[in-house]
Amino acid sequence: MALPGFRDFYPDDCAFRNAIFSKWREVAHRYGFVEYDGPPLEPLDLFTKKSGQEIVTQLYNFKDKGDREVALRPEMTPTLARLVTARHKDFKKPLKWFSIPQVFRYERQQKGRLREHYQFNCDIIGEAGLEADIELIALVIDTLRAFGLTEKDFVVRLSDRQFWTDFMNAKSIPEDQRYAFIQAIDKSEREPREKTAEKLGPLAAEVFAILDDASTGKSERLDTVETGLRHRGLQDYVKRDYTVVRGLAYYTGVVFEVFDRSGEFRAIAGGGRYDNLLKNLGDVDLPALGFGMGDVVLGEILKKNNSLKNLKKNNGIYVVIADENHRPKAMGLVQQLRDTFGLPVDYPLVPMKVGRQFQAAEDQGRKVAVIVDAETGKGQVVSVKNLASREQTIWSIEDLMKSEVLK
Ligand code: HAM
Repeated sequence: MALPGFRDFYPDDCAFRNAIFSKWREVAHRYGFVEYDGPPLEPLDLFTKKSGQEIVTQLYNFKDKGDREVALRPEMTPTLARLVTARHKDFKKPLKWFSIPQVFRYERQQKGRLREHYQFNCDIIGEAGLEADIELIALVIDTLRAFGLTEKDFVVRLSDRQFWTDFMNAKSIPEDQRYAFIQAIDKSEREPREKTAEKLGPLAAEVFAILDDASTGKSERLDTVETGLRHRGLQDYVKRDYTVVRGLAYYTGVVFEVFDRSGEFRAIAGGGRYDNLLKNLGDVDLPALGFGMGDVVLGEILKKNNSLKNLKKNNGIYVVIADENHRPKAMGLVQQLRDTFGLPVDYPLVPMKVGRQFQAAEDQGRKVAVIVDAETGKGQVVSVKNLASREQTIWSIEDLMKSEVLK
């Protein structure tokens, strides 16, 4: 059995996962993003320095045989920052990079939360202007739209970490109490009011007023982002909500989390601006922003909506060997078909009754069967049967290789 929180991917699960990956890639390419990757195992201190307390308590870390302190990546952003700071001079800015890493967090396993997941990461590096924030949020929206989800299914909750930094400055909250203040806001939705009020102390009433009615909190950044999204016709997908502050330590500006409208699931995606991370990590002063979208919650929503069905397309060829004497000829044909068409081509590995071969062809969802029989032995001819229409035609092998009938 797999470890708790880890998944096995049987072929159907793999097909489902790959369908998600291919949509992710398709939309990233549509937005002009290019793919990168990094190692799943990193030096421990990359995360202890950069990811913030919560993730650090969830690390899979150990000492390797060379006595190095290492950790499985719990997220991609520190790795991305490491890659970019190491070779930033080699790339024209802004960078628009995406990746689909498997990441690992030792979390309490629950609905929508596992100990490994795949996370679609899209980041823009080297652009400080809010146009980049708008572009990134449009990308997260379009990614979900590509799966057939609409503004009725999900909402991007928009917030501004800088708004709260300004608030803490105005109220002279000491540096050492700021993390707790942000955490209290982060947890405010899941905790009873009294508990949050206790944590916020004399500021409670003022903070609750902002959380309850986002229009009372002023943020020109969010005004600009909302206007930009309106120009693209995406205004119905977003809602300002200052309870979103993001658990990770490195965020600095506009932040967001995406949720299903029914409120049934945990966050589908989250991200925002992190303008100081590269400076802190590698002394390279480049503004940055990005988001991560996991495959777990998204997968649950798609299953609930019955999206991504019909993954099994009828395609490919099954070579039916009706006369074992001509197996060598059939094998030559299999090879030729694979070379010529690039389609899946299958055949019985051992002698098998013809009826069972047709059954195998149907089970595999093949579109056509090419039948090798005694006639093939005599001349260079085969029968081709369309498995849906049941129509059967006879072809010379030479003509078959040039025809469209198998595609
Ligand atoms: P995050 O909010 O920690 O952000 O994770 C992003 C998404 O990954 C979540 O919204 C959720 O869908 C999924 N996710 C997180 N933890 C789990 C889990 N244990 N099981 C299943 N799914 C999970 C980040 O990781 C940031 N590094 C994203 C980012 C990229 N920010 C800037 N660039």
